Amino acid sequence: MNRVMWIGAALLLAACGSEPTDDELAADAWDAISGYESWGQADPWTGIQPSGRAHGAFVQIWFDDVAEGALGGTIPDGGMSVKENYDAADATEPNKVFVMQKIDGYDEANGDWFYARYSPDGSVDVAGQGAITACADCHNTDTGVDRLLSQRDDPATTDE
Ligand code: HEC
Repeated sequence: MNRVMWIGAALLLAACGSEPTDDELAADAWDAISGYESWGQADPWTGIQPSGRAHGAFVQIWFDDVAEGALGGTIPDGGMSVKENYDAADATEPNKVFVMQKIDGYDEANGDWFYARYSPDGSVDVAGQGAITACADCHNTDTGVDRLLSQRDDPATTDE
C-alpha cells in the first residue's frame, strides 16, 4: 500500500461512525455534480432562462437522474439539482453554482435538503447549516413541490 492509499484508508476509518461536516458534504456534493452540464433539464427551464428572482437576471437549471425521475413529488435520497446564474442571456460563464442535494435525515425541518453555493472554481461560499438563511428560508416557501421553486405552477411570480 502506498502512502497516499494508506492516508486515504486512515481517513476513511477516522470518518466511520461520525457524521460528515457541512464542509465535507459540500466537497462531496461538488464532486458529485461533476459533468452536470449534461444532466437533464425540465420545461420550461431548458437552456438559459430569465430568473423568477433571487438568483440574478438569468439562470440555467439541471437535475440528476434521481431528482429528474421524481419531479413533482418528493425527491428521494441523493437527488440533486444544480443551478447556474448569469448577468446576460448570452453569458458563457456562470457567476455562481448553486446546489441542492437531498440527504435523508440531514435536516428534517428544511426538507432534508443540503444547500450550497460555490464559485465556478468549486470554492464554497455557503453550505449546509450556514446556508439556511441564505437558501432554505426562501426555498421553504412552497413545500408542495418539495421546495424546488422551478417546479411551482407559476415560478416567475415567486416572492420571498
Ligand atoms: C429569494 C429567494 C431565493 C433564495 C434566497 C434562494 N433561491 Fe434558489 N431558487 C429560487 C427560485 C425562485 C428558483 C426557481 C428558478 C428561478 O426563478 O430562478 C430557485 C431555484 C434554485 C435551484 C434549482 C432547483 C429548484 O427548482 O429549486 C437551486 C439548485 C437553487 N435554487 C439553489 C439555491 C441555493 C443553494 C441558495 C442559497 C445559496 C438559494 N437557492 C437561494 C429562489 C431563491
